[in-house]
Amino acid sequence: MRHIKRSAFFLTLLAAVLFAASLPVLANGNGNGITGSPHDFSGDGWNSSGEICRVCHAPHDQGRTTGLVGLLWNHTLSTATYTMYSSSTLDGAIDANPTGISKMCLGCHDGTVALDDFDGHGGTTFIGTGDQVPQLQDAGNPDLRATHPISIVYDTTDTGLHPTSNNMGTSGTIADVLEGGKVQCSSCHDVHDSAGEAVANTKLLRVGQTSGTGSPSGLCLTCHDK
Ligand code: HEC
Ligand code: HEC
Ligand code: HEC
Ligand code: HEC
Repeated sequence: MRHIKRSAFFLTLLAAVLFAASLPVLANGNGNGITGSPHDFSGDGWNSSGEICRVCHAPHDQGRTTGLVGLLWNHTLSTATYTMYSSSTLDGAIDANPTGISKMCLGCHDGTVALDDFDGHGGTTFIGTGDQVPQLQDAGNPDLRATHPISIVYDTTDTGLHPTSNNMGTSGTIADVLEGGKVQCSSCHDVHDSAGEAVANTKLLRVGQTSGTGSPSGLCLTCHDK
């Protein structure tokens, strides 16, 4: 009897250890599609819909205005004003405030809009600080100066950059991951963790950055001729 109790205790302990060990693995993408990926919120208590796509896309806007930005967008966007990246050596034109797909990502990642603020019903659950883009913690004045330039034209005459006909990992060409010729968050990350786009065991990156997931700084060297 005592023996059984003890083994049950160790099984529970083992399960707890395995569960804890699996957490960091779950946080990274596995390049197998959105189900079970960091953006699958179907099991989160704050997601009243119980669906995966609905947090970001809805098939009909039902009178809400979020869908008007395209992609059947169903999540409230941030209205923050940002300090954009700037430098004396920048060649491409950079937008005065984030645009397009980057704006969609920042709607959750700048920490000013609740995760559960979709379907037009408002929300109260915000992203954890560790999951935000660095330097966006100050919700009042989100500062993008310390993050890679986004909403910036990929200047095809810049000799420091590779031609946009080069491949971007297995996501197609560099041109394919630009939005209207601009670098956005989605140029480096695949939000859906899709097979054939995101590299397993990375932060949903389109090209691995280490010898374990690709080659050292492989993502950076895909665009930059250094
Ligand atoms: C509906 C809100 C929402 C939107 C929109 C959103 N994200 Fe996220 N994202 C999250 C949350 C919440 C997490 C943290 C998940 C976790 O820790 O399990 C996260 C995690 C991540 C991670 C880290 C994954 C990891 O392995 O740790 C990356 C990278 C990311 N998001 C990039 C993006 C990009 C790029 C976009 C836009 C193309 C985007 N996200 C749009 C909510 C969102
Ligand atoms: C966390 C937010 C989020 C979730 C959840 C999400 N998407 Fe997306 N989706 C985006 C963003 C941001 C884009 C634009 C960036 C891109 O294309 O990668 C996008 C683009 C798309 C596109 C058009 C471009 C393309 O990649 O084909 C389709 C289609 C799409 N999503 C379908 C879905 C479906 C179906 C689901 C559910 C199974 C889903 N998405 C879940 C954020 C999300
Ligand atoms: C030029 C490529 C590039 C662009 C553009 C980019 N990222 Fe990243 N991002 C990375 C890399 C590489 C990492 C891996 C972590 C690191 O090296 O700091 C990362 C990490 C992250 C993480 C995980 C942070 C953490 O602490 O775990 C999130 C969330 C994220 N990015 C969101 C975004 C969002 C939102 C945008 C657009 C505003 C964006 N990224 C634009 C390359 C990029
Ligand atoms: C999708 C292509 C792409 C990827 C991937 C990429 N970059 Fe960039 N990067 C650009 C573009 C375009 C610019 C703007 C260049 C310009 O207009 O001068 C830029 C600008 C920069 C700048 C600022 C240059 C300046 O003159 O101020 C730095 C630094 C930089 N990238 C580093 C990196 C690093 C490090 C990585 C990998 C984590 C990376 N980039 C990945 C396209 C990319």
